[in-house]
Amino acid sequence: MSTPRDILITSALPYANGPIHIGHLVEYIQTDIWARFQKMRGHHCWYVCADDAHGTPIMLRARQEGITPEDLIARVSEEHQADFAAFRVGFDNYHSTHSPENQHYANLIYERNRDAGHIARRTITQAYDPVEQMFLPDRFIKGECPKCGAPDQYGDNCEVCGASYSPAELKNARSAVSGAVPEQRESDHYFFRLGDFEPMLREWTRGGSLQKEVANKLDEWFASGLQEWDISRDAPYFGFEIPDHPGKFFYVWLDAPIGYMASFQNLCDRTPGLDFDQFWGKNSTAELYHFIGKDIIYFHALFFPATLHGAGFRVPSAIFAHGFLTVDGQKMSKSRGTFIKARTYLDHLNPEYLRYYFAAKLGPGVDDIDLNLEDFTARVNADLVGKVVNIASRCAGFIGKRFDGRLSGSLSEPALFAEFVAAGESIAAAYEKREFSRAVREIMALADRANQYIDEKAPWVVAKQDGRDAELQDICSMGINLFRVLIGYLRPILPGTAAESEAFLRIAPLTWEAIGTPLLDHAIATFKPLMTRVEPAQIAAMLEASKEDLSATVMAPDAAPAAANPHLTRDPIAGPVDYDTFAKTDLRVALIREAKQVEGADKLLQLTLDLGGETRNVFAGIRSAYDPRDLEGRLTVMVANLAPRKMRFGVSEGMVLAAGPGGKDLFILSPDTGAEPGMKVK
Ligand code: MSP
Ligand code: ZN
Repeated sequence: MSTPRDILITSALPYANGPIHIGHLVEYIQTDIWARFQKMRGHHCWYVCADDAHGTPIMLRARQEGITPEDLIARVSEEHQADFAAFRVGFDNYHSTHSPENQHYANLIYERNRDAGHIARRTITQAYDPVEQMFLPDRFIKGECPKCGAPDQYGDNCEVCGASYSPAELKNARSAVSGAVPEQRESDHYFFRLGDFEPMLREWTRGGSLQKEVANKLDEWFASGLQEWDISRDAPYFGFEIPDHPGKFFYVWLDAPIGYMASFQNLCDRTPGLDFDQFWGKNSTAELYHFIGKDIIYFHALFFPATLHGAGFRVPSAIFAHGFLTVDGQKMSKSRGTFIKARTYLDHLNPEYLRYYFAAKLGPGVDDIDLNLEDFTARVNADLVGKVVNIASRCAGFIGKRFDGRLSGSLSEPALFAEFVAAGESIAAAYEKREFSRAVREIMALADRANQYIDEKAPWVVAKQDGRDAELQDICSMGINLFRVLIGYLRPILPGTAAESEAFLRIAPLTWEAIGTPLLDHAIATFKPLMTRVEPAQIAAMLEASKEDLSATVMAPDAAPAAANPHLTRDPIAGPVDYDTFAKTDLRVALIREAKQVEGADKLLQLTLDLGGETRNVFAGIRSAYDPRDLEGRLTVMVANLAPRKMRFGVSEGMVLAAGPGGKDLFILSPDTGAEPGMKVK
C-alpha cells in the first residue's frame, strides 16, 4: 500500500434552529461514505463538523421559545448529534461555532486581514424595526410584491410571480418580527475587500481540483466583478462581538466556515500527536476538503479561501458541491408529507436503506438527486435483501448445522475469488472520485455473479446426497467468502450491516487491504437475518407522520399566541405579535359536542364544536393527552375566525387553544363555570 495521506474532511455546518431532514442527509451521508472509504484505505483521515449556532434566526427563535440562545443551541446540538449517530454519520468531532476555539480563530482571521488592509469601513442605510429596535435582514421584511401585488412576500423575491426586487420596493412593508413599519437608518459596517484576492482566487480555480460546475461559477463571478463583503451586524445579534468595535458583531457567515477550524482545533486538543498547523498552516501538505450543497458555493469558493489566505492560512484542496434532494420528483413539501425529518424517518425505516439509496444515486456533480419512494422500496428489496444478504443466508445455515460453523481450509474456486478481489481496484477508484453510483453498480454486478455461482452449485441439492459433505462445505465456504468481499466493498455505505456481518463472520473490522485474504478454516457465528424488506406500509406511515408533524406544529402550545395570523403560526421565525393583530382574534368558548379519533393519524382528534348554535369541525393534535370520551360535553376555548384550513382528513374550521409542554401534558379545557358556548373570551 502507498504512503498514507493526511486528509481532513468537513460537511457544512447545519443551522442550530431546526431539525436535520433527509435533504441534509444527502450531504452527511455522502461525506461519511467518502471518509469511511479513506479510513478503510489506511489513510490518516479526520471528519469534523459542528452546529452553526449564530445569527438573527437563532436569536429570534430562542426568544420566541422564551429561552436563551445558549439553551436553544445546546438542545438542538443534542438532537442533531443523536440523529447523525443513528444514521451512522461517523464524525471524529462535532463542535459548535459558539465556542472559544471559534472565537479565537474568527478574531485572529479578522485581525490579520484588518492589519493587512483588507477591511474597509462604510456607512450604510438599512431597514430598521423601531419597535424591536433592531436592523432587519431582508428575510424579516414582509410586504406586497411590487410586480404582482401578492401579499406576504418576504425580502427580495416573490414566491408567487418569481420577481426579484430590493426589500425597499415592497409595498406596505412590515417587519416580520413585530409587524411595525420599517424605517431606514444609517449604521457603520465593516467590509472585507474580496477584490484584493482576485489573483489568488483565479489561480486557485485554475488549479484543476474544482468541479467543472464550481469553476464555471467562479468564472462568472470574476466576470461580474468581486464585490466587497459586509461582515458586520449591529446589536442585538447572537454572535461574536468584533474586537475593538463594541456593539458590532461578526456576520454569521464570517465565523461559520471558521467553525471547521474550531472543530478541528478542539479535536487536536484531545488527540495526542494531532497537529493543527500540519493541516491548516500555510505550508501544509495535508489534504483539506469541504463537502457542501450547491447553494453555499459562493461562501466556500470565494469568501472562505480569501479570508484564510489573507490571514496566512492554507486554502482548501477542493470544494465538493452536491445538488438538492427532491422527493418523487418535487421539492420536499410539508403538505405532501415529503418534508421528512431524520427522526421521523428513523421511527419507521432502517437508516442503512437511505444510505444505500443515496449512494446508488450519487455522482461527483451538482445534479439534484431524487428520492423516488417506489424505486427506493424496489431497489433496497432487490439489491440489499434480495442479492447481498441472500448470499449469506443461502450458505450460512449449512455451515452452521452441518459443519459446526467451520469454513473449508481452502477455496474451491480460487479464480472466482480472485476475480472479486481484482474488481476492488475499479470500485476503489469510483469511491475516490465520488462516483458512488458506479461503485454500487459494480458491487451489485458481483453480487449477481455470486448468486449465479450458488444457483449453479445448488447446495440444497448437494446437501441431500450422501457422500458429498466436503463439496457442500466448499460451496458454502466459497459463498461466504464472496459475501465477505462484497460486505467489505459496501462497508463505507453500510457501516451498520458491515458491523453485524463482521460479528457474524467473527472477523476484525474490514480494511480494504484485508479484503483480499480469504477466510479459511475459520469458525463463524450463527447467522441472524441482517436486514428485512422495506414494506410499502412503512413508507406510507412515514409520510403520514410527516404530515402530522405539520398539524402538531400548528397545534404546538407556543403557537397559541400567534394563532391570529396563520402565516405567523407556520413561520418558525415569527416574533411577537403586536396588540392590534392580537385583537383581531375572535376567541370563543366552545362546547365539545363530539370528539373522535381520526383514522390513520395518531396525533389528531376530530372535534365537533358548538359555538351556541353554529357548529365547527376542528382537527386538533391532542390525541396524546386526551381520550375522546373525556372531552364530549366539556367546554374549551377556540379561535373562531381563523381562516379554514384544508388538511388531509378534511377542512379544519378553527383552532382550539392548548397550553402545556406537549405529550400527555396538553390542556385545552376551560373550567365549566357558567360559561356559555359562543361567549367571547376577551
Ligand atoms: N449553516 C449553513 C452552512 C454553514 S457551512 C460553514 C447552512 N446550513 S443548512 O442547515 O441550511 O444546510 C446544511 C447543508 O445541508 C448545506 O450544505 C445545504 O446545502 C445542505 N442541504 C440543506 N437542504 C438540502 C436539500 N434539500 N438537499 C440537499 N442538501 C441540502 O447552509
Ligand atoms: Zn409577485
